[in-house]
Amino acid sequence: SESRCPVGHAAPDGHLGTGRFVLDPASPDLHADNDRLRAAGPLVPVAAEGVPAWAATTYATLMTVLTHPNLSRELRHWSPAARANLTPGTAIDRIVTDTSMLNAEGDDHRRLRSPMATAFTPRRVEQLRPKITALTERLIDRLAELPPDEPVDLRMEFAYPLPREVISEMIGIPAAHQDELHELSDAMAQVGSLEDSPQVRERLHELLGQIIDERRGAPGDDLITDLITLREKDGGRLSNDELYATIELLFIAGHVTTVNLITNAIGALLNVPGQLDLLRSGECPYSAAVEETLRWDSPIAYFPMRYAVRDIEIDGVPLRAGEPVLACFASAGRDPGQYGEAAHRFDVTNAPAPHLAFGHGPHFCLGAPLARLEAEIALTALFEAFPGMAAAAPPEELPPLDTLLGNSTRAMPVLLGP
Ligand code: HEM
Repeated sequence: SESRCPVGHAAPDGHLGTGRFVLDPASPDLHADNDRLRAAGPLVPVAAEGVPAWAATTYATLMTVLTHPNLSRELRHWSPAARANLTPGTAIDRIVTDTSMLNAEGDDHRRLRSPMATAFTPRRVEQLRPKITALTERLIDRLAELPPDEPVDLRMEFAYPLPREVISEMIGIPAAHQDELHELSDAMAQVGSLEDSPQVRERLHELLGQIIDERRGAPGDDLITDLITLREKDGGRLSNDELYATIELLFIAGHVTTVNLITNAIGALLNVPGQLDLLRSGECPYSAAVEETLRWDSPIAYFPMRYAVRDIEIDGVPLRAGEPVLACFASAGRDPGQYGEAAHRFDVTNAPAPHLAFGHGPHFCLGAPLARLEAEIALTALFEAFPGMAAAAPPEELPPLDTLLGNSTRAMPVLLGP
């Protein structure tokens, strides 16, 4: 509506001060909001959780922003004046104050990212295929026992548990803690992002601390053990805080995003006529549906934050030193400037259309090979197991996630069919 998304204008000098779009975390139509944002320009002043920021809305401008030498993820570059409206405990606050690789640059970034990089290469991740397939089949067997003519929510019953179990195993969460972790992540599913649930995040922090302590005495073949070993062998390389932050980031970043991807792909394939036939007939691989979903219905809506380290100009818009820029991943995926008139059409024969859903440059998503593999295995197994599956509600009736960060629906009800 008009009041929620007023057309914004920067002040004449380009400063972020005046009228702006107010981003609505509970928007009923994110893509329509993004069309309005893009129509206002490639770099638009917005308010996100009350925080003024520039929003990078087009593919080309987002690409520029993700690789710009004078835009940094280091929080110290956000000027105190521009940061005055940041509220502790909000989703943006939690992301920008995280002390993991996400908010580091240069040597610091390499120091934090490189210990994890080998575990997530496409080759290492491919070795997880049998395990991911087995987990998927277990979930499908459970679905097959449900009445075929009653709606079942595939977000909660299928998309949700799979990435959780995969990443728990990689990180090394002991079986004794799995139940509580499941409860925490179920709570997280309701809000769509752990960043939006401070109490849950608090408890997760405690629980991971306990697990790290246990692992110190009993090393295993997992990422927590790798990080502890690194810290203890060469204590200068990773602080205790950084160790926690890295493990939490892997658990959080790798979880709801992948749930959103699988959920959004199911929705697209069940609702856009003809698409599923192309996959089932073998004409297009399921990986094409994964890529097209990443472009057309990006799991991330808006992601904070980068800061201008000096006065710069991007696409003719002047940014002042200390001003923040928000990345609009879902908007870039539907940019007609990049994808032409097909921008708003879900079409698996488009793939692999290049997209920015995993970012670009030094902060390119570490878990992209894992997310891709999980989604491909999950969708293939699901649609082959239930040839008569159909949506149980039209897409416009599904409630969206109530968060700025994630883009998905809170449920994906389907009829599994005969
Ligand atoms: C970074 C998206 C799954 C771990 C990123 C970024 C994006 C992204 C856009 C870059 C943020 C930026 O530059 O501002 C996604 C999507 C996923 C997904 C759409 C699922 C469909 C995963 C998984 C993991 C993971 C499964 C790990 C288990 C990370 C990490 C970073 C990151 C550690 C930070 C990298 C750095 O700062 O160097 N992700 N991600 N992500 N992602 Fe993912």
